[in-house]
Amino acid sequence: MTAIDPWGSILVEDYERLIKEFGLEPFDEATLKKFPKPNRLMRRHVIFAGQGLNEIASAIKEKKPFYELTGVMPSSERIHFGTKSVIEMVSYFQSQGARTFTLIADLEAQATRGISLQESRKRALDFYIPAYIALGLNPKKAFFYFQSENRKVTELSFIFSQKVTLNEFRAIYGDIHPSRILSALTQSGDILFPQAKERMPGVVPVGIDQSPHIRLSRDIARRTKNEFKFFLPSATYHKFVPALDGSIKMSKSNPNSFISIPEPPEQAAKKIKSALTGGRASIEEQKKLGGIPEKCMIFEMYKQHLIEDDKKLQQIYNDCKSGKLLCGEDKERAASLIKKFMESFNQKFQKAKKEKIEFVKG
Ligand code: TRP
Repeated sequence: MTAIDPWGSILVEDYERLIKEFGLEPFDEATLKKFPKPNRLMRRHVIFAGQGLNEIASAIKEKKPFYELTGVMPSSERIHFGTKSVIEMVSYFQSQGARTFTLIADLEAQATRGISLQESRKRALDFYIPAYIALGLNPKKAFFYFQSENRKVTELSFIFSQKVTLNEFRAIYGDIHPSRILSALTQSGDILFPQAKERMPGVVPVGIDQSPHIRLSRDIARRTKNEFKFFLPSATYHKFVPALDGSIKMSKSNPNSFISIPEPPEQAAKKIKSALTGGRASIEEQKKLGGIPEKCMIFEMYKQHLIEDDKKLQQIYNDCKSGKLLCGEDKERAASLIKKFMESFNQKFQKAKKEKIEFVKG
């Protein structure tokens, strides 16, 4: 039996390069073992890297306080599957006792996208928060705040502004703009804010695109050591959700190549049926040689999102490899799974809308 390549071989080199380039810790077997009851994303190394994860694992093991924090950028009224990964990590850390902070990045949305504070608030209440709850966030065990209402975050970001130079900003972010500088400092304020009350390790689950912010926040924590003694913030990084046409980043030009949350179930099913698979040129050939699940976007969706049971996933992998399972049949299954996912999301979302959310002011 061939075991599933946890790195999903399509992109191995890219992830290794990212780990080197950003100085991350690979989320390897040894790291995995340190965490009790790892979730699907951790078991399958969809979480492929992290920073400072030993501290978090120890806090969990020793039942010491730690926090997690996630920021919602209310830029549209859709969520990408990558955000679902973030929320699943939030839910995991919640289940392990993390104090959970969820913030609405309304200042950032205003500065970088011209979205008014009022509009951000509306989107957060009408869509993002219920959607996060539908995807697994437990609102009863979480603190919510708006950047614009959290005085402590602003205060911290002003202090942090003394600790970085323009050249460093350029080195970390490449192209910079005053609005981005403000947003980045505010984000560091967010990330370290829970420690203003109580010093404790904290973890920020993010996609790799957010890694510059983690780096900046860690640098700032180091540089304010004398004043604040903050623990350096930790992070988990999840893999990209590949577009259904096989490109790594979702391409805005081809809306059929990615499925958002929510999406009409039938439409999502149709998209998944058009996905790039690891099938061969003909059925005969596929029966003889077997398919290539490592190159199959549907298999990647199973692995990251659609199939919970490891044994079932392994079975599909084996059946594909051996030529027993053909793409047509498999696409039917994928279509039905994505439809079920969307239907269940819609139900949970409607229910979540009834939750009463309280916002803290810092
Ligand atoms: N910059 C993040 C985004 O674009 C939003 C954000 C603001 C955030 N503050 C944060 C994310 C703190 C993680 C932690 O999505």
